Amino acid sequence: MNSSPVPELSQFAEDVLDGLSSTPKHLSSKYFYDDEGSRLFQEIMRLPEYYPTRAEYRIFTERTDDICDAFTAGIGSIDLIELGAGDGTKTAVLIERFLEKGTDFTYSPIDISREANDALTARFREKFPGLRINPHTGDYFEVLGSLKNGSERRKVLMFLGSNIGNFQRDHAVGFFRELRGVMNPDDRLFIGFDMQKDPRVIVNAYDDPQGVTAAFNLNLLRRINRELGGDFELERFSHYAQYRPIECAARSFLISREKQTVTINALNRSFEFEQWEAIFMEISQKYTRAMIEELSSESGFEIETEFFDEENFYTDSLWRPV
Ligand SMILES: C[S@@+](CC[C@H](N)C(=O)[O-])C[C@H]1O[C@@H](n2cnc3c(N)ncnc32)[C@H](O)[C@@H]1O
Repeated sequence: MNSSPVPELSQFAEDVLDGLSSTPKHLSSKYFYDDEGSRLFQEIMRLPEYYPTRAEYRIFTERTDDICDAFTAGIGSIDLIELGAGDGTKTAVLIERFLEKGTDFTYSPIDISREANDALTARFREKFPGLRINPHTGDYFEVLGSLKNGSERRKVLMFLGSNIGNFQRDHAVGFFRELRGVMNPDDRLFIGFDMQKDPRVIVNAYDDPQGVTAAFNLNLLRRINRELGGDFELERFSHYAQYRPIECAARSFLISREKQTVTINALNRSFEFEQWEAIFMEISQKYTRAMIEELSSESGFEIETEFFDEENFYTDSLWRPV
């Protein structure tokens, strides 16, 4: 392994360097979403095993009026801001209803994936000609600051798809506190949480027999090869997912099938992998009602309303700042 200094690394390169130099090795799931990653995630959402999207979509379609009313209660107009909007399929249900009701609102989708954001914007402009849409492509952590000096209207920040489950607990609290810092007392935060359930249901959602989730994880190695000049050979790694019911957390890994050395030109570095060594890719935290309550109070919020699906697989929780 050589370690000559590397000038001017991109954030992606720095994070890969940090992750592959650590013990255990890890990569950040926020880099999953290049063009191919966004496409594969669309495929994951259509898998029979991947219940979270269907459960949340059911909440949005069955409780549309209740959700719209909760967003606008006591207030005429809102700015709907979606963090990590993806394809916006669930949000489209609310937008359609707000437009039907003649609600005065704007919609700002924020996504790190240009492909996802461009596709969503084009689709929404076509589908909803009257919609005022202000897309932002970038990391939501960077966009947070600009939210503070937005309009005087109520901001409703949406964080759907159980995205929060990809954060370790301390990180989740830090993130909610940052959001709290840019919110006015009248603003609201609407978060999708995947609930604890039969461990077999959960683990199947992250380990589909069709191999789409495996391809989604392996695609990050392909991205490193393409963008950072890496020489990962994808067939020398395999995807592994597990669920730990005590911690209520699913984790996914890429396992090095053999002892090998991988070189990444942009980092001017090589990395040694032992046979069966794991790269930690992603946590998908599941929640109990008590965990959600604790998260909200620790972050400076209280739960205003909660919407569950019929099976209690999933909840969308509306928080107000305290
Ligand atoms: C799991 S998908 C969920 C998409 C959508 N919210 C849904 O519920 O279907 C996560 C989305 O968040 C985006 N994303 C991940 N990390 C991000 C970050 N740090 N900043 C902005 N967007 C991010 C990804 O590009 C992807 O579209």
